[in-house]
Amino acid sequence: MTTEPTAAPGSEPRQKVTIQALRAMKGARRIAMVTAYDYPSAQLSDAAGIDIILVGDSLGMVVLGYDSTVPVTMEEMIHHGRAVARGVRAAHVVVDLPFMSYQVSDEQAVANAGRLLKETGCDAVKLEGGANMASRIAAIARAGIPAMGHIGLTPQTAGALGGLKVQGRDRATARALLAGAAAVEAAGAYSLVLEAIPQQLAALITARAAIPTIGIGAGPACDGQVLVNADMLGLYTRFSPKFTKRYADLGAQYRGALARYIEEVREGAFPGPEHAFNMKADLARELAEEAEGRTSNV
Ligand code: KIV
Repeated sequence: MTTEPTAAPGSEPRQKVTIQALRAMKGARRIAMVTAYDYPSAQLSDAAGIDIILVGDSLGMVVLGYDSTVPVTMEEMIHHGRAVARGVRAAHVVVDLPFMSYQVSDEQAVANAGRLLKETGCDAVKLEGGANMASRIAAIARAGIPAMGHIGLTPQTAGALGGLKVQGRDRATARALLAGAAAVEAAGAYSLVLEAIPQQLAALITARAAIPTIGIGAGPACDGQVLVNADMLGLYTRFSPKFTKRYADLGAQYRGALARYIEEVREGAFPGPEHAFNMKADLARELAEEAEGRTSNV
């Protein structure tokens, strides 16, 4: 079994997607980003040619079965971040700082951002928050750690926002988001996720920002788009946001394959001769005769 992510047959291996390459994509071509939480999904996404893989703390919900992203720990992010980094060759890999790993102080944010980068091998960290998190982003960036911002619907603090709701629909919150985007960029973020905000507001933020914006539920004007892999592939069915597009129903394929397997095991149709190993016929006969003699001597 190969441990190298494969390139499409006949194609050259892709170049590593750097922060400089992502900046150059702004205004030139749109950026495609998706979440991944383990080695196989990272390998498949990278081989498909994705620009950015996000080890999102959404893993708390779609992989670990929590009700929200709030309980996710540093250890869980490190465990999944390492698996993803092992599967990626070219894509830029971002890992989320989990809730309460950066909110306490700039020092805490730098220490945990550094730990995530060192222990996972990912390329950058992402943290949620606008102007209120500008000093954290500045401190992380000063330490030489690339930081991606995330404003709009910020799931870690969804409780304070009144739930998983669209943000920035009224004058005051729209202005706060415009100011937040500017503050995050000025603090040194190299890119910014815009989640669940009106498309007109996302277009304004994107036009004003020199850094690439990546939208999720923020309309088509963003410099890139991100989706949660489990949502787009039909693997998480507890909740499906309006902004998700389902590109496949792997959940149905999974259940169908398992149903056939269960049936074949119960019927004795699996394993077939092609799945079994053989030994030399004379040795098999000798062992069978020995076993039979032992039984008849008893
Ligand atoms: O955790 C996550 O998957 C995210 C995306 C929704 C951007 O932050």
